Amino acid sequence: MSSNDTLKVAVIGGDGTGPEVVTEGVKVLEAVAKLEGFQVETKDFDYGGDRYLATGEILPEGAFDELAKFDSILLGAIGHPDVAPGILERGLLLQMRFDFDQYINLRPVKLYPGVETPLANRKPEDIDFVVVRENTEDMYAGIGGYLKKGTPDEVATQTAVYTRKGCERCIRWAFEYTRKRDKKKQLTLVAKTNVLTYGHDLWWRTFQDVAKEYPDIKTDYNHVDACCMWMVKNPDYYDVIVTTNMFGDIITDLAGILQGGMGVAAGGNINPEPGGTSMFEPMGGSAPKYTGKNVINPIATISAVAMLLEQAGQKSAADRVIKAIMAVTGTKMKSQAAGKMGYGTREVGDLVVEHLDA
Ligand code: IPM
Ligand code: MN
Repeated sequence: MSSNDTLKVAVIGGDGTGPEVVTEGVKVLEAVAKLEGFQVETKDFDYGGDRYLATGEILPEGAFDELAKFDSILLGAIGHPDVAPGILERGLLLQMRFDFDQYINLRPVKLYPGVETPLANRKPEDIDFVVVRENTEDMYAGIGGYLKKGTPDEVATQTAVYTRKGCERCIRWAFEYTRKRDKKKQLTLVAKTNVLTYGHDLWWRTFQDVAKEYPDIKTDYNHVDACCMWMVKNPDYYDVIVTTNMFGDIITDLAGILQGGMGVAAGGNINPEPGGTSMFEPMGGSAPKYTGKNVINPIATISAVAMLLEQAGQKSAADRVIKAIMAVTGTKMKSQAAGKMGYGTREVGDLVVEHLDA
């Protein structure tokens, strides 16, 4: 947090239902700050599909410097029906991850009370783990190209890049996180060492090396395909998973549905270094068909706010928000699906606020 003890948050509502859900997130953020006695300052930025269509630019000149003045960024959603897939994702979301060196993608996977999971007979105590995904390398690095594009002989390459520094900082952060979380104290590396014998061998060796510094943490390894089976069969087995960017992308969607889906799953793009700018977001997309209808679920965004608070050093505010979310999912909401919550978007936000001092 800044020196004058004001938490400064840049708010990018983005596309579709993004602005509606961030409104509820900011509502909860302001209410909890009042209860906990610290100041919050937010500023809205209109980055997203509409601005891109109007101006041809995604992030204007100076956007990075401007956003860097904030402690954190809250992002609603990106994805516009009139913009080809990939443009906004690369130009905004991935750009921020790279520019701010947000090398940790943190995805808590927690089944809140009252939330339905597709797994039969599973309860909140069975689904409570965290995925730490590397967020700046791998196939996301954008290294590759075409040869003879558009001809029958076309060749395309997309290179997975792994660096010792990149995997080591992520793995070390995951060990620290596992220790701080203080549950099973078990960290599982998820990779594919039997096939990716160079890149994932680097991950494997680094994991072994860093593990020596954490004798109190139990280490474990799963191939990514087996992890997908285990996550469905025995989700209670996991405590913390650390994995590569591409595999992390895939397994966090599987994990996200186990915790109740788009309406509840949130993620953080974290630069843990002092002064680093981190960005928090609900996992759901821009859901154009629900836009402006007050039916989208803001719980994921409010969970993202809890993560933002924790990263900003406001742990007790974060805990308060999570407790309020659990009270609302457990005792109020009928479902986590858009339009079926038993309340509107704004009303769910109000309910969380009402439960903050419970
Ligand atoms: C995610 C998303 C992004 C990713 C997309 C939108 C580029 O799926 O945050 O998991 O692949 O990382
Ligand atoms: Mn994803």
